Amino acid sequence: MFGFGTTNSLTMDKPHPESLLDTGVQGVISRPLDRVDGPLKVSGTATYAAEYAFDNMAYGVLVGSSIAAGKVVSIDADAIRGIPGVIDVVTDFDRFIRVAAQGGATDAPTQGVKDIAFSGQIVAIVLAESFEVARDAAQALPIQYEASEGQYEFAAHKDETRKPADDATKAHFAQGDVDQAVADAPVSIDVTYVTPSQNSAAMEPHASIAVWDDDGSLDLYGAYQMPTSDAQQLAKSLGVSPKKVRIIARYIGGGFGSKLGIAPESVAAAIAAKQLGRPVKAVMARQQVFDATVRRSNTEQRMRLAAHADGRLTAIGHETLCSNQSTEDYFEPAGIGTHLLYGGENRLITHDLVDLNFVLSGSMRAPGEAVGMVALECALDELAEKLGLDPIELRRINDPAQDPEKDIPFSSRQLMRSLDEGAQRFGWSQRQKAGTRREGEWLVGMGVSSAVRGNMLMESSAKVEIHPDGSATVASAMTDIGTGSYTILAQIASEILGIPVENITLSLGDTNDPPAAGSGGSWGAASAGSAVYLACEMLRGKLAKAMDVDEDGLTLKDGKAIGDNRSTPIGELVGEGLEATGHIKPGKQEKQTTQASFGAHFAEVAVNVVTGEVRVRRMLGVFAAGRVLNAKTARSQCLGGMTFGIGTALTEDLIHDTRNGKLVNRDLAEYHVPANADVPQMDVHFLDERDIHANPIHAKGIGELGISGAAAAVANAVFNATGVRVRDFPITLDKLL
Ligand code: MOS
Repeated sequence: MFGFGTTNSLTMDKPHPESLLDTGVQGVISRPLDRVDGPLKVSGTATYAAEYAFDNMAYGVLVGSSIAAGKVVSIDADAIRGIPGVIDVVTDFDRFIRVAAQGGATDAPTQGVKDIAFSGQIVAIVLAESFEVARDAAQALPIQYEASEGQYEFAAHKDETRKPADDATKAHFAQGDVDQAVADAPVSIDVTYVTPSQNSAAMEPHASIAVWDDDGSLDLYGAYQMPTSDAQQLAKSLGVSPKKVRIIARYIGGGFGSKLGIAPESVAAAIAAKQLGRPVKAVMARQQVFDATVRRSNTEQRMRLAAHADGRLTAIGHETLCSNQSTEDYFEPAGIGTHLLYGGENRLITHDLVDLNFVLSGSMRAPGEAVGMVALECALDELAEKLGLDPIELRRINDPAQDPEKDIPFSSRQLMRSLDEGAQRFGWSQRQKAGTRREGEWLVGMGVSSAVRGNMLMESSAKVEIHPDGSATVASAMTDIGTGSYTILAQIASEILGIPVENITLSLGDTNDPPAAGSGGSWGAASAGSAVYLACEMLRGKLAKAMDVDEDGLTLKDGKAIGDNRSTPIGELVGEGLEATGHIKPGKQEKQTTQASFGAHFAEVAVNVVTGEVRVRRMLGVFAAGRVLNAKTARSQCLGGMTFGIGTALTEDLIHDTRNGKLVNRDLAEYHVPANADVPQMDVHFLDERDIHANPIHAKGIGELGISGAAAAVANAVFNATGVRVRDFPITLDKLL
């Protein structure tokens, strides 16, 4: 049926109940294969953006503003030109300003020195023959500013809010009357949770090398999550045709949202390289990553819950204040999970912004759920305590049969099974009344939280080619940001084509390959994976035709095509080579079902009665995210998410100096992400699931599910241990004493 054409395109307008991943006999899908790129990484031969070498390359060091509000009056480039090795200073930075905001880009380049909106904003790039000289000169560069008054304190300005434009999540949503329901309810709570700014803190700093060709086209080696859209964004900010910009991002040392959109170093490198007529490398210092890329906004979340005496919710109010620059509309969508997790007919979910002169706020891992679930799931714990109900039972009572705000079903929803399975595995029945379990100096407690992350399918394509030697290549502008994309895409192709994984070569992270949505929003595996699936489905049809057998009677395994009592090496069926492109697009299924991954977190903590320190003893995550494509890489994603949860609960706190808007702790020595000793025994368990509404591979997002609710489970365990409810995060020891 696929004898003609080379593109197999699918729009998800209806369920896709059959999957070749269920009928394939290679036996490789879902297996815990080691990463195919692992040996390259541990041997130092995987080339990251900053590691490419070019003849005549100049080194650029970015210079950040020392004021947080005002104007640059002058930059005295001549003062440093005499330093041996200095090439030039490029100060045409106005276009840098907006590009770090996802989706935002300047319309056209403009010349000159402009307004400063936050401390550390990039104002120049100093170019030199070596990195050391560039760094030295950058520090010596005289810049004159005219400072104006800025807003540096959330608490001082939180009464001056504005309603941002709607995003994928609506800024404001109301149903029924929450005020009235709370007034009428026999049991209610009205509490406010506070979370600080956070930084993605990816291991690899933002880095770019820009190389212009004589024909006016640009190759940008960059550490970016979404090369296809990043190349368009970069082209726009440079004022060149998108066809002229190629991004190469083969390996990326983590992104967690901070590399979704382009950051100032790519634009600076590109402009400087053009001006110099030489390749330019620009690598951000760790402090610049903190200062000048993106942060997760701080939040203040008012939670109101009202319930009947039996625990049935009558109202949920989740009102979030967050912050951004005055020209930005991005808001932390903290209420995103609240829309679909529990029933209750009166609902109010809002997000408002406070304007501050801080580094842009943008997406950081599980934007919304990561901190929104802290408020929702801790508030639910508070309500359970007040009702005298087990927190899992309270969730069961309010588990809706369908989307609580729309008249549509869930594509799949195993929230209660996750909670029940987790309770059993974790020994939840051993949990005691708050503040009553003591072991020597330690108070011990258990906490639980639901997990939810909306599932997204994003338009993506991939090309798969089978070669005469029986090997195959898979090419897509999808990325592997450390998650395992290389491996799972090889597994999908291997399973369907019956070609061993070791005979499949991948080309990822290059916009010369078919466009893809890249890695973000936990859509990567399912979106690019579906594109690979569709290409392989078409190739399977072509192989059946070449062998002259019915597709139903064709078996592909271990490099052989078997059918009609014949067995032929696959390579012999492809002539000079056989290729197909797969293309997936979201469709009506998105509107006809509410799609999300679900799960449950369990945590046990010990709190020292003398010092107040919190030690997480063990954690368990149970997740239902559709088909698990690789049990090992999926588990690693969840472990990483749960570790983020420990950070949110106990350590991460990006501090802004309220006097001048500077970041106080802008490196990994002072910004505390959990280190090995902070991370306890962790278990991850997946429930078996296939989501036929999501896509043809029946997988859903997993990366950001592991963080959703993880911090709340830890915080609820702290309460259960101590009887003290801390609503101001992170829960540092001073707040417990
Ligand atoms: Mo994620 S915050 O969409 O990389």
